[in-house]
Amino acid sequence: MTSDSYLSGLFSLNGQVAVVTGGSSGIGRAIAGALARAGASVVVVARREAELTATVEELTGDGCRAAWVSADLSTRDGVRAAAEEAVAAFGEPDILVNSAGINLRPPMSELGEDVWDTTMAVNLEAPYLLGQRFGPKMAERGFGRIIHITSQQAHRAFVQSGAYGVSKGALESLARSQAEAWSPYGVTCNTLVPGFVMTPLNTRLSADPQQVAALAARTMVGRNGLAEDFAGAAVFLASRASAYVTGQALFVDGGLSVH
Ligand SMILES: NC(=O)c1ccc[n+]([C@@H]2O[C@H](COP(=O)([O-])OP(=O)(O)OC[C@H]3O[C@@H](n4cnc5c(N)ncnc54)[C@H](OP(=O)(O)O)[C@@H]3O)[C@@H](O)[C@H]2O)c1
Repeated sequence: MTSDSYLSGLFSLNGQVAVVTGGSSGIGRAIAGALARAGASVVVVARREAELTATVEELTGDGCRAAWVSADLSTRDGVRAAAEEAVAAFGEPDILVNSAGINLRPPMSELGEDVWDTTMAVNLEAPYLLGQRFGPKMAERGFGRIIHITSQQAHRAFVQSGAYGVSKGALESLARSQAEAWSPYGVTCNTLVPGFVMTPLNTRLSADPQQVAALAARTMVGRNGLAEDFAGAAVFLASRASAYVTGQALFVDGGLSVH
């Protein structure tokens, strides 16, 4: 056996279909690119069409199979419509990545019900509804991978965690519930836990060089995260290689959480 065929037996996603929410920006875009380059046909889901088409053009330009769906995941009807449109592209997904997320950061005493509701809808309810739509079918077929992107704020308060931290803590619990339900049928459910990653989500913090340096100093690696840092972990969790890893939170944070 050559090392190429050994590695492809472990990690190749050839023939798999992946749906990546938030796949047009930041961490989701890097993960969509990684899964596509590892062989999966990838559907990216988000609202803004320009970012979606740019992502798909980059991937198809690299010889990958990719499609996009524009949808607002803050409403239940939006999520349901997105799921059906995503299936229309390449069929039922084997891999679901929930990376779409928002962090609105009002101080706790000013946190209103509108921010609470929208945060829970996008960060928690959309992953739940997509899991209900795709998880049982993955279980019927005997293979599936569900990957949620949570946050260090699932574990600790950080810069106005407010509703955001609550939604991410619940998302980790959702992953464990899904793992409990579907792992016996070959469907693993895990979370990737970022620390501080330089993406459009963090434009305000990223623009402050002192904050950026202070956060980098809190990691062990000595720098803040980049979206590309999630590529390898996502391919691992999406692949056959991770068949015995389920219900877990994998911190991709340069050691921030243990420093
Ligand atoms: N960056 C960090 O430091 C960090 C740290 C911890 C956790 N995370 C988590 O990592 C994930 C990705 O974050 P990121 O940093 O990559 O952020 P990002 O670059 O802002 O990307 C967020 C993505 O979600 C999509 N999205 C947002 N609201 C949506 C909605 N209502 N309907 C459909 N799509 C929506 C956005 O596209 P549209 O705006 O076009 O809809 C975009 O594709 C999030 O879940 C975030 O909470 C990030």
